[in-house]
Amino acid sequence: MKIQHQFSLQALNSFNINAVTPKIFFPASINELVELSHLHIEQYYVLGEGSNTLFCQQTAPVIIKPSIKGISVEQDEDYFYLSVGCAENWHDLVEYCIEHEIDGLENLALIPGSVGAAPVQNIGAYGVEVERFIDCVSWFDFAKQEVIEFSHNECQFGYRESIFKQQLKSSGVITHVHFKLPKVWQPVLSYQGLNELVPPVSASDVMLKVIQLRQSKLPDPKELANAGSFFKNPVVSATLFSDLQQQYPEMPHYPQKNGQVKLAAGWLIEKSGLKGYRIGDVGVHEKQALVLVNYHKASGQNIAELAHYIQKRVKQKFNILLNTEVRFIGEQGEVTCTEIGSQL
Ligand code: EPU
Repeated sequence: MKIQHQFSLQALNSFNINAVTPKIFFPASINELVELSHLHIEQYYVLGEGSNTLFCQQTAPVIIKPSIKGISVEQDEDYFYLSVGCAENWHDLVEYCIEHEIDGLENLALIPGSVGAAPVQNIGAYGVEVERFIDCVSWFDFAKQEVIEFSHNECQFGYRESIFKQQLKSSGVITHVHFKLPKVWQPVLSYQGLNELVPPVSASDVMLKVIQLRQSKLPDPKELANAGSFFKNPVVSATLFSDLQQQYPEMPHYPQKNGQVKLAAGWLIEKSGLKGYRIGDVGVHEKQALVLVNYHKASGQNIAELAHYIQKRVKQKFNILLNTEVRFIGEQGEVTCTEIGSQL
């Protein structure tokens, strides 16, 4: 198995943070994962393409970067079944599907990251969450030293949530994701921007429109280091929402099935006066306030400080605590933005 020591993670995270790990493992097969499990490493972080991770200290923990590749496709009369290695790039998979006339993933085009990371935070955009197409997930459990299948229901998907971020955190890695895509395509065109498409539309048309919409709002991490949405959209009680709505009738809001209401974190940040705010090398993007950017040589700590400042300002104005979508990784493993903030 490929292993590196004292390895800079700068090229492996989309915030371009120069954190150093004492050791990084690149297991590329189940056998190599078994080999790794024999080492009984206690403190580690599993890294995909680093597009949802903030290394908030100079030193990172031991890193495991699973490198299992491959796409296999089967079908029956009604469905395509895809089994995809965790290290495949997500957008490449979306393009592969559209080229092979396997429709469904087009709304999720251009989301940065790996296939293995997609179920962890149940990636979503333009009215679709990936869970819709996930049949099951193969998981290598380090303690049991074997692969376990998690059915769709067992994955406990929620808004940017799954069992892989909760109970299963730090106990194994996703090796493959198994998708089930209906052959009868049902386009999702409800989201603002996609409803401009004039029928008849193909999945390829939808994909191109999603790419265009994302490129118009979101900075390309290759040009301006960022990790997409930094905070989750907060879900608040109906009572808090109606109080706020009286003050801010124009506030974007999305009623949830359980009566709660999801608000737009980008809007809350903008209304707190922080859109385009910059301090040193870090800032709030000027077109989408939900995205924090590293203009040049910011440290992870600089970004964590800005995030904490945003949390404070939004809390003061709206009495809402924004939780991060991005995962904060310190020398000793995962921490929260609030924990980091209280140490500043
Ligand atoms: N808004 C503002 N100011 C801003 C940003 C947004 O007023 O600076 C308003 C918009 O005008 C709109 C509402 O907030 O009324 C929602 O904005 P948008 O449609 O851009 O989506 P979002 O809720 O900010 C979510 C996802 C994105 C995904 C888009 C499109 C989260 C945390 N983010 O953003 O996901 O691309 O919807 O579906 O749920 C990501 O996870 O990295 C990501 C980019």
